[in-house]
Amino acid sequence: MSAFENRLKASLDKRKEQGLYRTLKAPNNLIDFCSNDYLGFSRSEELKQRISQFSVDDYQRLNGSTGSRLISGNYAFAEQLEKEIAQFHGVEAGLIFNSGYDANVGLISAIARKTETVFYDELIHASVHDGMRMAQAECIPFKHNDVTDLEAKLQRADGNPLIVIESVYSMDGDFAPLNELVKLCSKYDARLIVDEAHAVGVFGENGAGRVVELGLEKDVYARVVTFGKALGCHGAIVLGDELLRDYLINFARSFVYTTAMPIHGLISIKCAYDILSYKKDNKFKISNLYSYFKQKVKTIPELSLIESDSQIQSVIVSGNDRARQFAAQVQADGFDVKPLVSPTVPAGTERIRVCIHSFNTKEEIDGLVNSLAKAIYNL
Ligand SMILES: Cc1ncc(COP(=O)(O)O)c(C=O)c1O
Repeated sequence: MSAFENRLKASLDKRKEQGLYRTLKAPNNLIDFCSNDYLGFSRSEELKQRISQFSVDDYQRLNGSTGSRLISGNYAFAEQLEKEIAQFHGVEAGLIFNSGYDANVGLISAIARKTETVFYDELIHASVHDGMRMAQAECIPFKHNDVTDLEAKLQRADGNPLIVIESVYSMDGDFAPLNELVKLCSKYDARLIVDEAHAVGVFGENGAGRVVELGLEKDVYARVVTFGKALGCHGAIVLGDELLRDYLINFARSFVYTTAMPIHGLISIKCAYDILSYKKDNKFKISNLYSYFKQKVKTIPELSLIESDSQIQSVIVSGNDRARQFAAQVQADGFDVKPLVSPTVPAGTERIRVCIHSFNTKEEIDGLVNSLAKAIYNL
C-alpha cells in the first residue's frame, strides 16, 4: 500500500478504535422513530398521486435539468415556485438550492465577507460550519441559546454582526429564544439568520415555521428552509429580500457551480407545499403525540429527557458504548432509534434521539417507552 493509502487506512482504523466507525445500513422494517419525515410526506400516497398527476410542459420534455440555473437549467416553473414559497413564509423572495447543506454553505460563505463578524450558536449544524470555513469573516461561537454570552461577544465585535441560529435545534429539539435574539439584533444592528430545517411543517400557521409562528418575518434577515424533512422531498430555499436573492445568484458558489434541481424535484416540492397549505391536522397530530411521549417518559424516573417542546426528544444515556447498547436493545424490540455519540454531541450527553412523527400511534409510543424503560434497567 502507498503512503497515501496507508494514511486513509490509519484514519479508518483510528475511528474503529474510538468506536466512531461509520457504515451504511440497509433499510429495516422497524417502527420509525428516527427519520426526519415528521409528517410522513415521504411515504404519502396523496403526495405521490399529486406529483404523478401534475402537468407542466417541462415535466413531459425533460428528465435532467441540463445545467446550472445560470446556464441552461432554469425554468419559469422554478422562479414561480420560489415566489410561491416566499409568499407562504411571508417574505419577499427565495432562491432554491439543491439541499439544505448547499443552502447554508452558499449563504454563509457568500455574505460573510471580511467586513462581517459571524456569531453562531455552538450547536449549529455542520453545514453552517462548512459555510464559515469558506467565509472570509471572523466567526465566533456563543453558548447554546445563551443571549447573555452572545451580547457580551457582540459588544466586542468589529465587523457587521451576523447571527446564525436554528429555530429548533436538531440535536436537542429545543427552541432558540427568537424574540430575545431579535431584540439583541436591533440593539446591535445585527442581521439574524435562522435555519428552520426542523421547524417547518411542525410549527407556525400551516407549518410555515417558528419565525411565522412568532410574527418575526420582518425581523429576520434570512431563513433557510429545507424540503427533505417534514416536506418529504429534497432541496432547500433561502428566504430573504430581492437584494439577497440577487446577491446569492451572483456569489453563492453552491448555487452557481452546480446542475440545477430537475423539474421532478421542483414538482414534488410544489405538491408538498400544496398539501401543507390545506392539511392542517398533521401539525396537531404531531404535537399531541410528542406531548404524549413526554408525559409517558416522565412517569419513569430512570429516563432522563432533554427539555424540549418539539418532535425531537432525546433520552440521555451517557457514554458512547452505553448509548449504542441502549439503542441496540430498543431496536431489538422493533423500534428504530439511533444513538448520538460524542463528539457529535458533547461527552456526557450521549443520547437516543427520538423523532416523533404524525403517523406514529399512541400504541407505538407506549411500546417504545416500555422498551426504553426495559433497556435502561438492563444497562
Ligand atoms: C439544521 C439543519 N440544517 C441543514 C441541514 C441540511 O439539510 P439537507 O439534509 O437538506 O442537506 C440539516 C440536515 O441534516 C439540518 O439538520
